[in-house]
Amino acid sequence: MNDIKERIAAELLAVRDRSLAYTEAEDDLLVRQHSPLMSPLVWDLAHVGNYEELWVLRAAAGIEPIRPEIDDIYDAFKHPRKDRPTLPLLGPAEARRYIEGVRGRVLDVLDAIDLEGADPLHRDGFVFGLVIQHEHQHDETMLATLQLSGQPGLVREGDLPQGRTGGPEEMYVPAGPFMMGTATLAWAYDNERPAHQVDLPAYWIDRLPVGNRAYAAFIEEGGYDDPRWWSAEGWQWRQRSGVSAPLFWVRDGDGWWRRRFGRTEPVPMDEPVQHVSWYEADAYARWAGKRLPTEAEWEKACGWDPRARRARRYPWGEEAPDPARANLGHRAARPAPLGAYPAGASAYGAEQMVGDVWEWTGSWFQPYPGFRAFPYKEYSEVFFGQEYRVLRGGSWAADPAAVRTTFRNWDYPIRRQIFTGFRCARSELV
Ligand SMILES: [Fe+2]
Repeated sequence: MNDIKERIAAELLAVRDRSLAYTEAEDDLLVRQHSPLMSPLVWDLAHVGNYEELWVLRAAAGIEPIRPEIDDIYDAFKHPRKDRPTLPLLGPAEARRYIEGVRGRVLDVLDAIDLEGADPLHRDGFVFGLVIQHEHQHDETMLATLQLSGQPGLVREGDLPQGRTGGPEEMYVPAGPFMMGTATLAWAYDNERPAHQVDLPAYWIDRLPVGNRAYAAFIEEGGYDDPRWWSAEGWQWRQRSGVSAPLFWVRDGDGWWRRRFGRTEPVPMDEPVQHVSWYEADAYARWAGKRLPTEAEWEKACGWDPRARRARRYPWGEEAPDPARANLGHRAARPAPLGAYPAGASAYGAEQMVGDVWEWTGSWFQPYPGFRAFPYKEYSEVFFGQEYRVLRGGSWAADPAAVRTTFRNWDYPIRRQIFTGFRCARSELV
């Protein structure tokens, strides 16, 4: 096997180990629905195998369906998450057998396939990149489900670097054009393409994500009770939901505790805030005299190298993420303290832009000019419009295989179960 095939085989193995680790639990925990926002874990498990069957075996290799009768059950578009427990799902043991059977054939296809062929699904292993990233994204979703389940002892902990204090609060990004999106990254999704020039006025962006200490100050100063800080829809949501702190926070006298994977612990004040909705992020930013960065501002501050006039794959350059540069790939089940990654700074000096928490941006999820759906409309195109807000950067639960400066994620502005925080920006005063 050549290098790229070896890399694909290693990535397939790693992501499957991850999925199996998250579903190493009693059957009851796997088949139960822990929240109407989430699928039962056993749905995610069989769904990643079904997706792999559809795309690698059927679409790329032209192999006859193995289990066509289950396609409907695992089609994310046919059944919203809240309805999935009522479907005739494969049980845990059967789901594991099914995905293992699919995977065996996938490795045979990988062995035989020509990755330099004309088929865009084959070229540079795109279809394998598609299923690897897809499975990692479901693994992150499974972690959100495990967090919602409140069950202790299921999710691995680990060590993170220390934080550091000091340094500027904001970084300056001078006016000028940059290249947004990508034309060259082989495994990038359709929504990251094509690369296109965007000219931005000068702005300031926070060097670090907003931390729990600053967010707690927003709460103490009545941020949740003052409609001045909220958008009209945000205020409606706040009134309707009764929300008054990040999800999983619990007040205890003058302090805050949080629930995290079945433990209850004091909120670490030097960590980026997570589990806040877009509306909360937007209100905090207004209270702080700032705003959320647009998606373009976020990407320029993260990935543009103004000296080389070139976009970087990661904030620090092209080298793969490592433990000194970013908190990715579930090294520990939490964001790292603020200031933990000076070596991961971008060309403009912004830190912790990839890893730790997804970051809400002020932008709707929209196509780039010249967008073409590939390999199917339901990946991105059906989500474009003014319904979903863009998230950037990847969380501690995102795998490096599904993180890069151009990667776009999106969700409803009310969502809080995802590992999401934010940083602020402001326009240069003129
Ligand atoms: Fe999926």
